[in-house]
Amino acid sequence: MKTVKSNVHYHIGNEPETDMYGEVLHGLQQEKKFISPKYFYDKKGSELFEAITMLSEYYPTRTELLILNKYKHEMAKAIGSDTALVEFGSGSSEKVRTLLEAMPELKEYVPIDISKDFLYQSARALSMEYPHLDVHAVSADYTDKFEMPELSSKRKAVFFPGSTIGNFEPQERMNFLKMTAEFLKPNGGLLIGVDMKKDHAVLNAAYNDNKGITSQFNTNLLNRLNRELLANFDLEKFKHHAFYHAEKGRIEMHLVSLINQMITIGDKNISFSEGETIHTENSYKFTIKEFQHIAKACGFTPKQVWCDDKNWFSMHYLVVE
Ligand code: AVI
Repeated sequence: MKTVKSNVHYHIGNEPETDMYGEVLHGLQQEKKFISPKYFYDKKGSELFEAITMLSEYYPTRTELLILNKYKHEMAKAIGSDTALVEFGSGSSEKVRTLLEAMPELKEYVPIDISKDFLYQSARALSMEYPHLDVHAVSADYTDKFEMPELSSKRKAVFFPGSTIGNFEPQERMNFLKMTAEFLKPNGGLLIGVDMKKDHAVLNAAYNDNKGITSQFNTNLLNRLNRELLANFDLEKFKHHAFYHAEKGRIEMHLVSLINQMITIGDKNISFSEGETIHTENSYKFTIKEFQHIAKACGFTPKQVWCDDKNWFSMHYLVVE
């Protein structure tokens, strides 16, 4: 019998520690109530986000794919040969396939994701489609320190699509970009998707779709708290609210309490007055100049930018020495 050497390898990069109850409670006890958007993504939330990416109003996903498709050869050239491709938050590894088409000589792909089972399953599927590629799946929270497998390529390039960077707060964003610049030394590069400032009507529509999927995505967070943290939110008594805040350059998502009410979470009570909100997400938008300025402050040198015809979405290639 012929034995085939497997080209997929599994690694534990770090063991994410989250105290969901403590973090959520802390946010709900503030003067301005908030919950981190990272808690949107339970199974149902991930499915709803997937549905959002297919909505006609939600332009980022399809626009980024268009840019990737159109410029993949230029991107591959910028990344260069003898480079391992590392993807942060790889999920189903769908977008990277477009880039891989233009990188037939790539030897190593390192998908990194916090959701271990899904990561391993996606990595296995990809490794079978690309038998000449070594796939090193690393389960880790990539915003924290993590261990990397030994690689044979001369340098690394990080692929971070989806404008996830827009969901980081300014300080988190700086920390993350600085950490990534260190990770990429020496001579590495970052290919990152960044959503752009544009007509407010287009932005507002993208987060207030007609089918109400974004509203479901937002309110599903309360379902999750009910199930996992023994809370008793009545979903009928909260409403989705999303709007573009021009001075802050961001979409804000909130859950608005429709009445004066008291909820319990574990053994704690939280009171809401009518109209009070839980701030659940910020999604920052950037001009090319703004993002390059931020990148420079974090140790990167901007090299190339690719956009769609309407200048709605950008993909930056940034390098470190
Ligand atoms: C994941 N992230 C880039 C999305 C965004 O557009 O900020 C999350 C999202 N929130 C509402 N719709 C989509």
